[in-house]
Amino acid sequence: MDERTWTVGELAAASGLSVRVLRHWDEVGIVRPGRTTSGHRRYGGPDITRLYRALALRRTGLGLEAIGAALDERSPDATAVLQDHLERLETEIERSVRLRDRLRAALDGDGSVMSVISAMTMVDGYVHGYRAEEGARLADQAEALEALLHRDTAFPTGSHVLEVGCGVGAQTTVIARRSPGAHITAIDISADSLAQARRRVRAAGLAAGVTFRRLDVHDLPDDGLGPVDHVVVCFVLEHLSDPLDVLRTLRAALRPGGTITVIEGDHASTDFTPDSAAARTAIDCQVVLQRQAGGDPMIGGRLGELLSAAGFADVTTSPREVRVDDAGAADAFVLRTFTAMIAGVREPAVAAGLTTPEAFDAGIADLRRTAEPGGTFRYTFTRAGGCAP
Ligand SMILES: C[S@@+](CC[C@H](N)C(=O)[O-])C[C@H]1O[C@@H](n2cnc3c(N)ncnc32)[C@H](O)[C@@H]1O
Repeated sequence: MDERTWTVGELAAASGLSVRVLRHWDEVGIVRPGRTTSGHRRYGGPDITRLYRALALRRTGLGLEAIGAALDERSPDATAVLQDHLERLETEIERSVRLRDRLRAALDGDGSVMSVISAMTMVDGYVHGYRAEEGARLADQAEALEALLHRDTAFPTGSHVLEVGCGVGAQTTVIARRSPGAHITAIDISADSLAQARRRVRAAGLAAGVTFRRLDVHDLPDDGLGPVDHVVVCFVLEHLSDPLDVLRTLRAALRPGGTITVIEGDHASTDFTPDSAAARTAIDCQVVLQRQAGGDPMIGGRLGELLSAAGFADVTTSPREVRVDDAGAADAFVLRTFTAMIAGVREPAVAAGLTTPEAFDAGIADLRRTAEPGGTFRYTFTRAGGCAP
């Protein structure tokens, strides 16, 4: 007996999907029915089952590409795809709740349009935000600065390393590659960044040595973690309003004799030619916004003092200067790392009334000019270390 089949019109009526959607799903490989000799689509039993599986996945909000990969088991780990998606949903929900609370506070306060705009633009409460461009910038930054900042990174085999604020995993891959036998637990508050970090580490073939956890550094020490042997913090303290308290917390998360490594920048060290008032004003926008969000963009210069005040012993500080006067480094550091970071605050800076779009863009153009032949750029990071007594 011939198997019962359905036309695209019959299936559209039964599933509630339009004929157009069913055709598109055929084209992109979600459900590919057989064809009659005259070329008409005919959906059989397995196609219907696959369609309803696709619909179930779509209800979770997954994109078509991920649905196709999960149905075909092309994805190396379908559960990981759904886990990433769940984390992304949680981030969106948290972001919406933060936005609602900020808007409510702005409207309950002076209710002015400016305070509402400010609430909307700074909703992440984190000056760089979590846009895709920022993820790419963090990856460029880690690559451009690896030799300078990590030439002495190598944690011993068997040791447990805690990386705080791992973001999209740009530093995690560097640390893991340079410490092949160590186990790294990488934490961050952003579920979306963690999902990207997981993918990055997996793609680099380093997943076996790294565990990711969604955890706020303020919630340490954590029972599930136990005392760790080493802590690494890179470009995170500059965003926190209580870096000294956080360093004390991290000291408590270390076993006695364990080490901490902190890497931060200092925007006051920025120096470039040709000099430009417009470029300096654009950099100041970032400084002001970061301070408004509770951070300290000059924290690199205070790391030694902070580590000592937090009770670490054998404190060392090592200034790491980027001196750019050749084309390769100019592209990687000046354009894709530093200028991209400043350019990322354009909208909040304009919304907060710190600059105009024209003045800001002129500053960015001047910063880009420092990467041209004859231009120079200098910036000093600090890598500091200490021991838990
Ligand atoms: C500038 S990014 C640096 C990411 C990474 N360390 C790197 O260098 O590529 C700062 C990261 O710190 C995370 N972060 C901020 N506050 C945090 C907190 N309280 N606990 C854990 N992570 C935090 C942010 O979500 C963000 O991913």
